[in-house]
Amino acid sequence: MTRFGIIGAGHIGSTLARGLVDRGYDVTISNSRGPESLAPLIAELGERATAGTAADAAAFGDVVIVTVPLKAYQDVPVAPLAGKIVLDTNNYYWERDGRIPSLDEKVATTSGLLQEHLPESKVAKAFNHITSSQILTDGRPAGTADRRALATAGDSDEATAFVTALYDEFGFDTVNVGPLEDSWRVERDQPAYVVRQTRDELVDNLALATR
Ligand SMILES: NC(=O)c1ccc[n+]([C@@H]2O[C@H](COP(=O)([O-])OP(=O)(O)OC[C@H]3O[C@@H](n4cnc5c(N)ncnc54)[C@H](OP(=O)(O)O)[C@@H]3O)[C@@H](O)[C@H]2O)c1
Repeated sequence: MTRFGIIGAGHIGSTLARGLVDRGYDVTISNSRGPESLAPLIAELGERATAGTAADAAAFGDVVIVTVPLKAYQDVPVAPLAGKIVLDTNNYYWERDGRIPSLDEKVATTSGLLQEHLPESKVAKAFNHITSSQILTDGRPAGTADRRALATAGDSDEATAFVTALYDEFGFDTVNVGPLEDSWRVERDQPAYVVRQTRDELVDNLALATR
C-alpha cells in the first residue's frame, strides 16, 4: 500500500493525515518546529502515523504531500523526492508569503515553482482549492448527482492519475486542468477557487479563468 510523507502539519497537512490513516495508509508527517511538537497529533492519529523531519517524511513517502506556506517551498528536501509523485496543495498569499515576482508577473505558477525546485519529481496539484475543513466532510460516493469535483494539474500523467484515484477515495470527482503551465486556472481568486462545484461547473469555471 502506498506510504505517504506529509511536509506541513497545519490545517491541510493534519486533515489529510487524518483522512489517510482512516483509509488505512501509513503516514510520516513533519512541520517546521520538529517531531516532538507533533506528539499530540500523532497520539490522535494512532499507530499508522509517525512524526519526523521534512527529510524523514520525504524519505518515507512513496508519495509526498507538500503543504507548507508557499514562502517555504524551497526548504522542501530535493534528493529524497527524486522520482516520486509529489502532491502540491500550496497557494500564493503575498500577504503571508511576501512578493514572488514571477507570480505577480503571471509568468509562473505556484505548482510550477515547486516542480522547478524538484526537477526529478512528478509534481501534481492537489487539494489546493478546497477549505481544509471540507476535505473530510464534502466527499460523496461516485455517481452522486451533486458530487463535488476538484482540479488537478501536472506534467506527469502518472501523477495526475494518482490524484484522480485519491480524490475518488476521498469522495470527489476530478477535472484535469492539463500541464502545470495551465494550473493558474485554479489558483487563488479565479472562479474555480474554493467554491463547491460539480465536475461540469468546475469545467465551466476553469474556462472562465482570466490571467
Ligand atoms: N487552510 C486551507 O483551507 C487551505 C486550503 C487549500 C490550500 N491551502 C494551502 O496549503 C498550504 C498549507 O496551508 P495550511 O492552511 O495547512 O497552512 P498552516 O495551517 O499554516 O500550516 C503550515 C504547516 O507548514 C509547516 N511549515 C512551515 N514552514 C515549514 C518548513 N520550512 N518545513 C516544514 N514544514 C513547514 C508549519 O509548521 P509549524 O506548525 O511548525 O509552524 C505548519 O505545520 C498553503 O500554501 C495554503 O495556502 C490551504
